[in-house]
Amino acid sequence: MDRIRIVGGRPLKGSIPISGAKNATLPLMIASLLTDQTLILDNVPRLADVSLLQRILSNHGVDMMVPGKRPGESQQNGHTIHIVASRIVDTTAPYDLVSKMRASFWVIAPLVARMGEAKVSMPGGCAIGTRPVDLLIMALEKLGAKIEIDGGYVIARAKDGLKGGEIKFPKVTVSGTHTALMAAVLARGTTVIENAAQEPEIGDVADCLNKMGARISGIGTSRLIIEGVTRLGGARHSVLPDRIETGTYAMAVAMTGGDVLLEGARPELLQSALDVLAQTGTEVSATNEGIRIKRNGAGISPVDVTTDPFPGFPTDLQAQLMALMTMAKGTSRITETIFENRFMHVQELARLGARIALDGQTAVVTGVDKLRGAPVMATDLRASVGLVIGALAAEGETMVNRVYHLDRGFERLEDKLGACGAAIERVSG
Ligand code: EPZ
Repeated sequence: MDRIRIVGGRPLKGSIPISGAKNATLPLMIASLLTDQTLILDNVPRLADVSLLQRILSNHGVDMMVPGKRPGESQQNGHTIHIVASRIVDTTAPYDLVSKMRASFWVIAPLVARMGEAKVSMPGGCAIGTRPVDLLIMALEKLGAKIEIDGGYVIARAKDGLKGGEIKFPKVTVSGTHTALMAAVLARGTTVIENAAQEPEIGDVADCLNKMGARISGIGTSRLIIEGVTRLGGARHSVLPDRIETGTYAMAVAMTGGDVLLEGARPELLQSALDVLAQTGTEVSATNEGIRIKRNGAGISPVDVTTDPFPGFPTDLQAQLMALMTMAKGTSRITETIFENRFMHVQELARLGARIALDGQTAVVTGVDKLRGAPVMATDLRASVGLVIGALAAEGETMVNRVYHLDRGFERLEDKLGACGAAIERVSG
């Protein structure tokens, strides 16, 4: 199993190209099931999760083509994929595939909308919490699907097609909103989704669906209105930049000091995190090419932050912020409100010398003057990258184990950081 070795203490300087967003790419690929025409996605990140979803979709009969690089295109450009689900050969998503990636459960929506039936394994628990699917099921039922749970599978049926309806989510859910949207676009009549998640990745998928012929309005708000259509066609869509990758590298620069341009990053996708970074004493500026992050000399100021649905501070940046706060000049409080078990990185940061006490859903972080390298491992990808941030500032060598978590969500992490002066390398085997 690969590991990443980091020798900390070097400031980051240079530029980092920001990849297409993983959490938009996955539902966009799943949306290809809604049409028998070709969906072309540009700016797709090269990630293990994308390859895994490709395998999962091929089980349903989806063909995916990755054209060769065009002249002049560098390794840094995200790639283009052509996806065509001209014939769905299987409407079952088995446990061994769904258990590898939770988002693959979302195939239930396009399959039942287009084929009138779907049988998808319940995803089960994961390292950051229980993550149930009750609200996804509720949304499908509101659109007329008959749901049965049997042998660990959710079976959804709508032999005469789905019907538009009113879906009011009792809590904000990204997975619920993606599912409702993908089901509603092919339902007869109008669907209204209230308390919809406003994460930019939802808007990106909705924009793509509209290019495919869907009629979705209210994009970017908490109330989505969908006029169902009888069929969708092909389209070409470029995946929006990854706001979590952007925020991660921004925090890495804040941690080590230095000056880095995050190329192609869009500030409006992570304003709350940029505001927090500014409070820590980091200089954040928007430029024509992206976002520039700079911190020279001055210490890191502590902050109090609570994770929230968009536009609030993202849970997917909580571990990275905690790593940054381990070296703040004072005490900070970080409260997690989205997932109940997303503090698995606390013990590992402690191995680097961090002082963190847990008080329910709040981590109280007392800044220390220095961290020291150590072997560490993490249980999910954002936690892993939080450890990378700690390691970049720690004295001596840190070995980050279980790199496959990082490979799920960060494209060429060691190359991007290495190009900015970090002493980081992948150790194979
Ligand atoms: C998405 O997960 C992301 N995954 C997560 O990113 C992200 O952390 C999360 O949204 C929150 O922003 C993808 O986009 C692939 P939710 P999702 O449905 O959709 C509860 C990463 O590292 N809930 O918004 O699964 C749930 O338990 C990943 O890239 C129910 O109670 O999150 C949680 O407490 C990790 N019932 C809250 O809602 C349901 O039926 C928000 O979950 C569904 C969710």
